[in-house]
Amino acid sequence: MENQSSQYLTRGKDYELKEQLFTLPGKYYTSEDIYKEELDKIFYKRWILVGREEQIPHAGDYFLYNIENESLIVTRDAGNKVNAHFNVCRHRGTRMCTESKGHFAGKSIQCPYHAWTYNLKGELAGAPLMNELKQFDKKNYSLHSAKVQTWEGFIFINMDENPTPFEKEFAPLIGKWTDRKFPELRIAHTIEYNLKCNWKLILQNYQECYHCPGVHPLLAELTPFRGASHDCMHGGILGGFMNITKEGGSMTMNGEAAGPALPGVAGNEKQRIYYYSIYPNMLLTPHPDFVLYHVITPKGPHNVQLMCNWLFRPEVINDPNYKESIDSAIKFWDLTNQQDWQVCEQMQLGVGSKKFGTGHYSGMEDVLSEIDKETLRSLGHSI
Ligand code: FES
Ligand SMILES: [Fe+2]
Repeated sequence: MENQSSQYLTRGKDYELKEQLFTLPGKYYTSEDIYKEELDKIFYKRWILVGREEQIPHAGDYFLYNIENESLIVTRDAGNKVNAHFNVCRHRGTRMCTESKGHFAGKSIQCPYHAWTYNLKGELAGAPLMNELKQFDKKNYSLHSAKVQTWEGFIFINMDENPTPFEKEFAPLIGKWTDRKFPELRIAHTIEYNLKCNWKLILQNYQECYHCPGVHPLLAELTPFRGASHDCMHGGILGGFMNITKEGGSMTMNGEAAGPALPGVAGNEKQRIYYYSIYPNMLLTPHPDFVLYHVITPKGPHNVQLMCNWLFRPEVINDPNYKESIDSAIKFWDLTNQQDWQVCEQMQLGVGSKKFGTGHYSGMEDVLSEIDKETLRSLGHSI
């Protein structure tokens, strides 16, 4: 599908904003009430990234995705379909699974309390002695489920009863990187970061390189910070690319590629690194030779968990010759992540001050105002 970007911005020293753009007021990063509203109107309503299909390759495999009061059992059924069931027994509400991942050996999910048992589709298959009650009909006691959509090997869920169709929300991305065969990629490494900052600061930090020269000297050397172009602004999907200086290079400690280019990467694409934020909880960074992605999970207004993952071709992961270069890609992004996290945490401290009103965005940060608008639109707020 053609990219439905509404604007194409190329920044340079002559770039001028048509209007003055200001940040959200501090309370959007600190208020418990606004945070609760964000959970209801954003995280429990939108498509959110929970993981990769490769994490549950076989029927009965599962992992949990936990966000505040909700716990979802993401599992694959015998028909190869991925389901996401609320981890809430329909008998008296017990949370059934506690291990973060595993395999349902009997192809069923059993509550440890009174042994109600559900199949992988979430249907109640057995409930001891309940057949003695004439009125009880098992059909009415399936697990509650979230909607599930897979895209390029990623698993998204939506907890709303009537969500916006995935195809509509993700229109600019559908087909965009299909030739790179993302579903075939495998997770080479994962790092979990737990930060003391609001989840929105992570999205904002990711979508601007105004901070790059000071915060990321190495990154700025590999990809000149003024060379950032946005090619997509579509609702909550924002993104663009930066040019890699070194021919055939990538984002590693020495700027060399970490592996061969992914299928379908040719011409200019060999020199581009894409930075896409998919509101509200995914950062997707396709490199010519690998893919980095982050899963953002809020943990209150002041805290966030980030799962950062490096995806490579399986044959590259399995080839010892690439071990060093994969490690270099991991080291580069871990370093860059930590540089970002430090300023995000410092910003969280500052925006909590009674003296912080709003900030004034620079000409390299107009996209951040789009992220803010998406939040305000979702909450039904105007400021
Ligand atoms: S609460 Fe689950 S079987 Fe009783
Ligand atoms: Fe950064």
